[in-house]
Amino acid sequence: MIVPQYFHIRWSIVEIHRFEKVWIVASILLIVGYIATVTYGAIGAGVQMVGKKGGQIEDPDNPTSSENFREPGVYTVGENHYAVYVLARQFVFRPGTNDPIKVPAGSKVTFHLTSSDVIHGFQVIDTNINTMAIPGQVGQFTVRFKKPGKYGFVCHEYCGVGHHLMEGEIMIVPKSEFEGAKQR
Ligand code: CUA
Repeated sequence: MIVPQYFHIRWSIVEIHRFEKVWIVASILLIVGYIATVTYGAIGAGVQMVGKKGGQIEDPDNPTSSENFREPGVYTVGENHYAVYVLARQFVFRPGTNDPIKVPAGSKVTFHLTSSDVIHGFQVIDTNINTMAIPGQVGQFTVRFKKPGKYGFVCHEYCGVGHHLMEGEIMIVPKSEFEGAKQR
């Protein structure tokens, strides 16, 4: 029991006022709280930066990707797995803006997103899908829409005078009504 005694002596030598002690404890709790929120934001919320996963445009190691961006749209990857290639440019998403992105409910959907001019954003309303479209870089993420329905998405990076009009739509159709996707 050396340690408590030591602390006891220290407390009494410096004679910390009762209020001072309260504030010391409160500040330590605040710091612990800040670290906890930062840690949650970094790990718990599942936020990821646009990484190398999606590769780059004209990547010789990944010729399919560049090829599919020449003809953006929904591609069949495997059993109940689809890939959506979306090209963003001022001020449309292709597909998405003029023709909705159609995918069947319950399937695995991998988005590949890039831009042919400036940086754009891609945020699907009422979901945690939120990424950037960077020229030359491919943003990639995989999601599953469980129920049929419609989702709107918007560009959330200021990209020019038409930025506020840049939007699109994803239609989740029942599996039986899905018309099929492009093959590669
Ligand atoms: Cu595209 Cu803002």
